[in-house]
Formats: sequence, C-alpha cells, structure tokens
Amino acid sequence: MQIYILGIESSCDDTSAAVIRNDVICSNIIASQEVHKNFGGVVPELASRAHQQNIIPVIDTALKKANIQKNQLSAVAFTRGPGLLGSLLVGTSFAKAMALGLQIPLIEVNHLQAHIMAHFINNEGHTKPTPQFPFLCLTVSGGHTQIVYIKEGFDIQIIGQTIDDAAGETFDKAAKIMGLPYPGGPMIDDLAKQGDPKRFTFSRPVIQGLDFSFSGLKTSFLYFLRDRLKEDPDFIEKNKADLSASIQSTIIDILIQKLLMAANQTGIREIAIAGGVSANSGLRKALMDGRELYGWNTFIPAIQYSTDNAAMIAIAGYFKYLRGDFTNQSVAPFARG
Ligand code: KG4
Ligand code: ZN
Repeated sequence: MQIYILGIESSCDDTSAAVIRNDVICSNIIASQEVHKNFGGVVPELASRAHQQNIIPVIDTALKKANIQKNQLSAVAFTRGPGLLGSLLVGTSFAKAMALGLQIPLIEVNHLQAHIMAHFINNEGHTKPTPQFPFLCLTVSGGHTQIVYIKEGFDIQIIGQTIDDAAGETFDKAAKIMGLPYPGGPMIDDLAKQGDPKRFTFSRPVIQGLDFSFSGLKTSFLYFLRDRLKEDPDFIEKNKADLSASIQSTIIDILIQKLLMAANQTGIREIAIAGGVSANSGLRKALMDGRELYGWNTFIPAIQYSTDNAAMIAIAGYFKYLRGDFTNQSVAPFARG
C-alpha cells in the first residue's frame, strides 16, 4: 500500500514541508529565515511572521516536487513541540485546517523524536542501513543536548541531558562573542577547518553521570577573549580559525566523552547522532573514529536531515500512521517538553 504523508515543521526559524511515500522521501522543502542574522539569535515575533508568509508556498512546492495532488495524501503530520510557541502555532494551525479540509488523519510529532527518526528516511531505489534496536542517539541541537536510549520505535528514554546551555547554543554564543552572525555553528565549523584545535584550552565542566553542562565553557571562552582583547584589540581577527577549532574540539570532546560513558554503561554499540550540531564536520568525524576506537556501529544523518527539516516529521508521521496513532483537532502546541 502507498501511504503519502505530508510533514510540516515550524518549531524555530525554518519553515519546512516534506512528502514521504511510505519511508521513501519524495520532497523536502526548507525556507530558512534570513531576518534573524543580525540579531545574534532567533527573534520569536519575526519568526512566526515569516512562517505565516512562507508556509503556503513551501507546502505548495513540496506537493508539486513530489508530483502529487493534496487529495492523494493519507495524513498530515506536524511538529507539536518543543519549540517557539508562536512559530509552532503557524504549522499546527495549518496542519489542523488541512487535515480537516481533506478529511484525513492529523498526526502530532515531537520535534526531538523526529530528529532521531531521520535515520529511517530512505531514498528512492536505495535502502540504507538503519540502527538496530536498542540504540543510543546523541541529539544535539540549538535548544537540546540529550543522550537518548531508543528501546524500540517510540519507546525511548532520555538518559543524559544538559543542565544549562545546549551544544548548538554554545556554538552560537561562541560565534557571537567572536562577532560572527547567527547561526554561528556552521561558521565555526568552516573556520575550524583552517585552525589548530590544540592552540587554546578552555575550562571543561566537571559533572557526574551522563548529564552535560556548557555554561562554564561559554564563560571561560568569554573571559579568555576579554583578557586577550585588552592586550591586542585585533586578537579575535588574527586568531579566528584557531579559536574556532579550539572551541569546536572542546565541545566535541565533551559530547563524545559522555556518549562513550553511555555506551559503556548500557553495553550498546549502535550509536547515532542527530540534530543541527550533527551537521558539524568535526563531530561527524569523531563519531566515525568511534568505529575503530570503540567498536561502534555508527549512524550519521545526511546533512539535509541534520538541521531542522520536515522530512523527519513526515517519517515519524509515517510510523505513527502505521500504528493508528492520530491526533484530535483540539490539539495545541507545547513550547517545552
Ligand atoms: O536542530 P536544529 O536545526 O534546530 C533546533 O532544533 O534547535 O539545530 C540548530 C543548531 C544551531 O545552534 C546551529 O548553530 C547548529 O545547530 N549547527 C551547527 C552546524 N550546523 C548547524 N553547529 C555546529 N556545526 C555545524 N555545521
Ligand atoms: Zn531541531
């Protein structure tokens, strides 16, 4: 049977729509919002307005690219949360209206679960290896840093998480301190390729168990630069690449160390990464190195499914559709979860 799911994602600053036929991607359209660049972060009010402008053209394009009519859709899946409430409301309201109009099921999707589900998206004519249950996933995004134990499907447990800043937030704040535009993660990644990761050292968190903390690292980076700038006002400009490489490798070390601890504690060797920071070339390499170093079977999402996208919402929607896990029209989005 052919099941077509339309996925809609609007949790932060990307408006995205995707169509999936069973687990095979047909289209994945993303409209990124440029308005936030000069503000050093996402401005919620501007984000929801931009979603409002983008959502119809983005969905329209996703359906056209998939070459299907809306009356062929089996269900509409949407991000219910977590995210920015004003942004989520745009996607949620649109999904509800569309499902109601087409008389098809509505399916709510948790954004963080969807990042993990991105590992199960297939391309036409090409089936790729997927993680075997149970597996561990390091979910690292702008708002979250978690180690998740996936027992099976949606049966998941968060076994470690940040107690303050997220990994992506740390990249973005470090970039902001260096005067780079938002989002800084990809820029640091680029600059780091030219830099020496061992040139500068910053304080690392001492935190027990599988939890993370990044606020101390951010402060250490800030104070380090403040002191150096007193001696040389051009310090950042002259050392951008080394600073980027050093902060990036510190963040990655912290992440991998905890992931290794989680793998050893659970005895699980199926290790995945997900979320915006999983697009980072250093983290992707560190995970690949885990194959040789720790005997891991590693899973890295395609770049287009690392950062926010609706394909991951559509695949999660597909699995929920198979289980008959539908959502009532009275649903409202949630900001935190
Ligand atoms: O998953 P995502 O697109 O949105 C959220 O759910 O938050 O993650 C966005 C985060 C931002 O902090 C961004 O700077 C970071 O992912 N990011 C990166 C890279 N690409 C995106 N961080 C480091 N290196 C990258 N290449
Ligand atoms: Zn995300």
